Amino acid sequence: MNEKIFGTYLQKIEQEGNLRHIPDESEANLIDLSSNDYMGIASNRCLFDEFYSQCPKSRIFMSSSASRLLSQRQKDYTALEQLLHDLYRKEILLFNSGYHANTGIIPAIATGKTLIVADKLVHASIIDGITLSRRDFLRFRHNDISHLDTILTKKSLEYDQILVIVESIYSMNGDICDLKGLIALKEKYPNTVLYVDEAHGFGVRGKYGLGIAEELGLMQQIDIIIGTFGKAAASMGAFAATSPVLKKFLINKSRSFIFSTALPPFSCLWTKFVIEKLTDMNSQRKQLLATSEYLNEEFKAYNKNIHSQSQIVPLIIGDNHKAINMSEELKRQGYIALPIRKPTVPEGTERIRFSLNVNFSMEQAKQLSRVIKALMV
Ligand SMILES: Cc1ncc(COP(=O)(O)O)c(C=O)c1O
Repeated sequence: MNEKIFGTYLQKIEQEGNLRHIPDESEANLIDLSSNDYMGIASNRCLFDEFYSQCPKSRIFMSSSASRLLSQRQKDYTALEQLLHDLYRKEILLFNSGYHANTGIIPAIATGKTLIVADKLVHASIIDGITLSRRDFLRFRHNDISHLDTILTKKSLEYDQILVIVESIYSMNGDICDLKGLIALKEKYPNTVLYVDEAHGFGVRGKYGLGIAEELGLMQQIDIIIGTFGKAAASMGAFAATSPVLKKFLINKSRSFIFSTALPPFSCLWTKFVIEKLTDMNSQRKQLLATSEYLNEEFKAYNKNIHSQSQIVPLIIGDNHKAINMSEELKRQGYIALPIRKPTVPEGTERIRFSLNVNFSMEQAKQLSRVIKALMV
């Protein structure tokens, strides 16, 4: 093995301030604004106790020991799928993670003469899914529906289907896609398939926590909704909410579903327990939105072209090294908030990404705002 190749690469990214490393176990006294535990469930010991107390040992299985298509244990998967089916009024198929969902579903459904058109800022797992599909692919300017319209006008007749892919809440900007506009385009170009990744909306938005599509009453107009369990649901895994035919198709065609060991059944038991709690957490969702709106307003002057409307609160710094320094300074002041650097975000928009959660109070948000104002002078 010629390690020089790897060493040269590592040196280069270190010089650019881009070297990634796995952080140490965090100190308990710091305020963690880096995790996606938006609803504070991953750290809620009372909920764990409640879950364990009602979970008989005879029901606990740590491994499916096979892919879903071969597993002899189905009960915990089907119970979770049934719960989500009742909430979304759509067919549900579980995946091992959001990454598995996006890399498994996109190549599967992009069959025949398909053009994929995705928002410029979609997540890496979506890009990887698109790459695996080996289909024609265009990107529209971030959240620019008129640019998407122009592309569809030019291209829709050339293809059997156009797969339009967006996120409901963008993971680095915290802004929200124009779902109504997208649905209007779907009506204008009937061969459009609308794919919405709700990774950061699931559990956090809507009366029952089903996401932005629920909040806007638009769930039934979307062809495929992706939700993930690793963020607000404090678990692991993901699901696709879709039509009966598409569910059947994915079971037969999605390689990440077919060729990977299914989630541990125990994990699905926990996820179901959490989702039942999440549906009842609307007052916490409102409180989280209020702190988010406050900080987004406070940071507006630093963020110029980025307008977060959610619990993901960016603070644009504009340089890799400065973003790292800011994150270190925040740590000294008692906060864990991570720098997001290029190429994860475009050059010049390197930032600190504050990921708020329900345990972060309005008082704490006001204090954080004072700290930032002092540091940004
Ligand atoms: C929009 C989006 N989709 C998918 C994923 C991947 O989900 P998972 O962590 O479950 O693999 C992420 C993770 O950050 C994400 O932000």
